[in-house]
Amino acid sequence: MSDVSTAIDLDTIAILDFGSQYTQLIARRVRELGVFSRIYPHDVSITRLLAPDIRGIILSGGPASVTESGAPWPDSALFSIEKPLLGICYGMQLLNYFHDGTVVPGSRREYGPAEITLISAEPLFQRLVGIQPVWMSHGDHLDRLADDFRVIARTSDGVIAAIRHAEPRRAVYGVQFHPEVTHTPNGQVILENFLFEICGCSHSWSLAGHLERTVAELQSTIGKLPVCVLVSGGVDSTVTAALLARALPSAQVRTLHIDNGLMRAGESVEVLESLHRIGITDVTFVDAAELFLERLVGVTDPEEKRRIIGDTFIAVQERELARLGLGDNKVFLAQGTLYTDLIESGSGVGKQAVVIKTHHNVSTPSVQAKREAGLLVEPNREIFKDEVRALGLCLGLPESLVYRHPFPGPGLAIRILGAVTPERLALLRQVDACFLDELRRNGLYEKIWQAFAVLLPVQSVGVMGDARSYDHVVGLRAVQSCDGMTAQAYPFPWEVLTRLATRLTNEINGVGRVVYDVSSKPPATIEWE
Ligand code: XMP
Repeated sequence: MSDVSTAIDLDTIAILDFGSQYTQLIARRVRELGVFSRIYPHDVSITRLLAPDIRGIILSGGPASVTESGAPWPDSALFSIEKPLLGICYGMQLLNYFHDGTVVPGSRREYGPAEITLISAEPLFQRLVGIQPVWMSHGDHLDRLADDFRVIARTSDGVIAAIRHAEPRRAVYGVQFHPEVTHTPNGQVILENFLFEICGCSHSWSLAGHLERTVAELQSTIGKLPVCVLVSGGVDSTVTAALLARALPSAQVRTLHIDNGLMRAGESVEVLESLHRIGITDVTFVDAAELFLERLVGVTDPEEKRRIIGDTFIAVQERELARLGLGDNKVFLAQGTLYTDLIESGSGVGKQAVVIKTHHNVSTPSVQAKREAGLLVEPNREIFKDEVRALGLCLGLPESLVYRHPFPGPGLAIRILGAVTPERLALLRQVDACFLDELRRNGLYEKIWQAFAVLLPVQSVGVMGDARSYDHVVGLRAVQSCDGMTAQAYPFPWEVLTRLATRLTNEINGVGRVVYDVSSKPPATIEWE
């Protein structure tokens, strides 16, 4: 993907990704402070970093040890760049190690709260004094400090907690702790000092400004040609449709919704209603449920299900685009791709994610062809999920859609363990709707990142009245997460769980037993298949 974007003229902070679980969080924190940020691979070329829009560079943390062979290493010209640098954790160790200081493994990993003493008044610590609580997460630490640097903070047991270049005109800083996490209460002040006092950034990033630029960019890119958008029901594609509706006359925008028969109860209707609310009334509804279910008959292997659903989706999409005359080279295609999708697919931004499951929202042949022809627009490609949500609200989408939990492309098929049949789909839809209803009634839906039910491929004995029953077992999954890469089971109050079990077994015919999944990701994944 081209790095040239709507944000070309904005002050930008480059974040070099050394593999930290917090890299995206750093980028989000910088944006929350009103400065645009972009994540780059750790070895991005120095030429990119020298561009005038880059006002400062943050080196992220990472799981490696700077002393081990093969440890991620930036372009060495970075260390003499005349721009402000802030190394966090691994980033700070890198600064010290490169300048001939030493880094050694600690006797144990330090993970959790710590206190640091600020030793000298520094631009990085403006408005802060004395002892500060911070969050640590590291194995190695600095031993001998490089001659070019001096210590500006230490932990209570004497470990180096922050450093800066000894030459006053070099704005090069390092912190061993994590200012980006909320457990460092004054972390935002430190980042703010770096952005505004040290890098001299202006408050130039805001969602309103982004909306204005995106609309203008869509207008100039698409011109008078038609544009087609496929709306799945998720927030990303719906916001994309809403942006097109804001930017272009309605006759130019063709909106399609494919129902694969694997959606939750009432979902397709809700999608259409949400689009109507923002003035998109002309939606082509494609009911492909029968085809998907036919192709899934007797299939029990999770990867096989994913492959079939992915292939069928591609076939239906290609067929529909051709049928509507939208596949030719005079029609743009719009996609809801997020910044995170580009990072995770390694498209020139951050790291490459390991493939555990075949996600089906891959580039289809028609998307690929549009991309190659310069006919693909991805108006959310610079922004994170929480920013897309805020944009959705600005554009008038209902909160119920904007804050809807993530839902996988292959839908309920990967939540039915074993064969997918219309009967099992109908049962799971009821269970899922009842589960989500109970969460909403208790004000829990918004507190949970993702919640859903799964239908297990087993039946179990129970007693209904005086009779023996032999009914289905359903699993409930609810997780807390920030990006789906890691997750923890939501700690429900016991009364909620028992009430859920009572409701599900009483209200839904065929449910005999309810279990709650308490596994974390890793090692479990969020979905069961
Ligand atoms: P896992 O199960 O991999 O899920 O821990 C992480 C997040 O991704 C969602 N997911 C998908 N989303 N297409 C999607 O658009 C897919 O094929 C897919 N598979 C999993 C999952 O719901 C969770 O939010």
